[in-house]
Amino acid sequence: MADDSASEPDWWRTAVIYQVYPRSFADSDGDGIGDLPGLISRLDYLAELGIDAIWVSPFYPSPLNDGGYDVADYRGVDPRLGTMDDIRTLVDQCHRRGIRILMDIVPNHSSSEHPWFVELLAAAPGSPAWDRYIVRPGRGPDASLAPNNWTSVFHGPAWSPLLHADGTSTGSWYLHLFDSTQPDFDWTHPEVLADFDATLRFWFDLGIDGFRIDVAHGLAKQEGLPDQATAASEDGLLAEQRTPYWDQDGVHEIYRRWRAIADSYDPPRVFCGEAWVESEERLANYLRPDELHTSFNFEYLKAGWDAERMREVVDRTIATHEAIGAPPTWVLSNHDVVRHRTRLAPGYQEGTPDEVRGLARARAATAFALALPGSAYLYQGEELGLPEVDLPDDVRQDPAWQRSGGTDGFRDGCRVPIPWTSTAPHHGFGPTDRSWLPQPAHWAGLAVAVQEADPDSTLQRYRELLRQRRAQPALQSTSMSWLPELQVAEQALGMRRVGLDGSVVDVVVNLGQQLLELPPSLGTTVIAASGEQLAILDADEGPRLVIGPETCAWLQGSGS
Ligand code: NOJ
Repeated sequence: MADDSASEPDWWRTAVIYQVYPRSFADSDGDGIGDLPGLISRLDYLAELGIDAIWVSPFYPSPLNDGGYDVADYRGVDPRLGTMDDIRTLVDQCHRRGIRILMDIVPNHSSSEHPWFVELLAAAPGSPAWDRYIVRPGRGPDASLAPNNWTSVFHGPAWSPLLHADGTSTGSWYLHLFDSTQPDFDWTHPEVLADFDATLRFWFDLGIDGFRIDVAHGLAKQEGLPDQATAASEDGLLAEQRTPYWDQDGVHEIYRRWRAIADSYDPPRVFCGEAWVESEERLANYLRPDELHTSFNFEYLKAGWDAERMREVVDRTIATHEAIGAPPTWVLSNHDVVRHRTRLAPGYQEGTPDEVRGLARARAATAFALALPGSAYLYQGEELGLPEVDLPDDVRQDPAWQRSGGTDGFRDGCRVPIPWTSTAPHHGFGPTDRSWLPQPAHWAGLAVAVQEADPDSTLQRYRELLRQRRAQPALQSTSMSWLPELQVAEQALGMRRVGLDGSVVDVVVNLGQQLLELPPSLGTTVIAASGEQLAILDADEGPRLVIGPETCAWLQGSGS
């Protein structure tokens, strides 16, 4: 454990957490799949980047039908990704560098290769082994209809028939809100609760600092598993009814139980929930003082490149979090969404993203997010400005791709392995010419080694932003205020951060395509910026800073 952990029990309130998708980070053995030794070999790079913690997506034994979010053994390491010794080394090597480590826990569902589901399949209908998952009789005279109308997030019905070994119907179906190889646990079953308690303790005992919780809003299902109201059938009901499998109040009891376990450790372990819920107010329920420490704030990710919307989301997020004393979080990319360089690019919706402006916007959006109070998440490769990759269909592995008949499930495009060098094979991802997803040839120019040598690269900008974020007391404070000098109508946002020591940092983002002249009152000392388009104009009232289009700058302020 890092020396400072005991003295910084609240590190998670301001942390920058870097998401590692291990299969795509670094491959040490040449099988084309990134692994834990590969990650360990790159920890100096992460330390130099200046992040506080990593969150590592699942590396448990898994058939990899959903990129590892289909777990067959919650207390092991997939041999393709490493060993238990590797995870011990990873924890130790992170802590030696002052980097904390969060793992990913997947409690809503297991893999169908989990021993409990294998036992269920072999057991006689109705035996106790059936009770750990959500199994119900089918509807219709021959039970050939699913128990209700729920649909899978990955398309198609959320139920599959349970068959006898000879392929005949048992008359029952099992629930899977995701792929059919991801059966949902029944969280009312005491063995499920006890087993996850043991899993949390297992990894906490090994020294990890916390967990990101997958589908944190999904564990509890509405009593009786009622049909979901649909617009076509039940107009009036739709507005009133919360989806019967998301954000049910029953989840909170589970997180109170987990919090007690995390708090029993010294230093206490932490949780970040992946909860896709309908409003910031509903999200705040997960962050009550005896539940999760933080949760991803997807509203900000969805705000796009729109000054008014960004301002609204920031205001609502800060207000709802302040009310319960939880830090807000800011995230723009992860392994499930289109990389923000591409998503924010003009022309993205039309299928013709302007990658150059996309990069400027992405850098500016990140610079703005990193200056907001609270904690921030970065996704591997965004510090290189990687764009989304349009992959050939025959390499796609996202289960939603198959289940939707190729109309959805494009998540592999943000999971393409990291380019470390500009050279073959696979730009330094691994030692052989194998890679589970191909990298575009032009990624040579985006490689880490290339960007390290370029003072204006995206990588160097991220390093500078993270260095200043740590160095400036104003950026560690819990509050912000909008600068009245900057107007949404002019495509500008400006905020002031004031430190406990009275120091001030002003942050300005120009979302427009015109130059933005700042009033002299804001000063001209730039401490970090998303791009190089900045100039000082000598005006009668004093020097004014001019910020180029789609650029964010952090200024040393002199106070109000
Ligand atoms: C959210 C994860 O981030 C995603 O990758 C996964 O497919 C689903 N949960 C199901 O576990």
